[in-house]
Amino acid sequence: MFNKVIVLATHNKHKLEEFREIMVPHGFTIYGENDLNLEKDEPKEDGSTYEENAYIKAKSLQKYVKYPVIADDSGLEIAALNSFPGLHSARFASTFKSYHDAQLELIRRLENQKNREARFVSVICLLDPNSQKPLFFRGVAFGYILEEPKGDYGFGYDPIFHSYEKDLDWGLAKKEEKDAISHRRKAIDQLILYFAI
Ligand code: IMP
Repeated sequence: MFNKVIVLATHNKHKLEEFREIMVPHGFTIYGENDLNLEKDEPKEDGSTYEENAYIKAKSLQKYVKYPVIADDSGLEIAALNSFPGLHSARFASTFKSYHDAQLELIRRLENQKNREARFVSVICLLDPNSQKPLFFRGVAFGYILEEPKGDYGFGYDPIFHSYEKDLDWGLAKKEEKDAISHRRKAIDQLILYFAI
């Protein structure tokens, strides 16, 4: 059977799980950085786009492995907050005691706002030994920010996001339900197609 090994530049076990859930059934084996026992410094994610940050993460891992390397950079963009927290989604949350507190703060910033539109964005960078250039795949999931957090499935900002697609609260959604429509899913589908050519 088709078997393609890929290394994902992440220490985030939820992300790794999502990649595996979607890609393993298509014949991929996905290793995360924690599977490799590397002694490497963490790269500084100081890019000004998701593409740049995904590239920085993938590049930092490339010299340690012989397989294609992928990295994803993602974030939650809230329209009424000028796309905040966006690129800074993880950093913003890290200034609070918990993700729950970060969620409540975003809800607070939307008080009296009619426009609650939001979207999750994921950009995957692929460094394939067979390609001279980095390749990028982008996925977006559209929805809005709830009035209060709901459920505790998923991770990060899932409990405050409602997606238009399937009319789904991501904090209440089962893994398979989110995986079917997520921003990461949409980017990964393109990555899978790249390897199918
Ligand atoms: P990074 O891509 O690892 O730099 O971090 C992106 C951050 O965006 C995560 O730590 C979460 O805060 C948020 N995020 C990205 N994707 C999701 C998702 O699917 N659900 C909830 N939060 C997410």
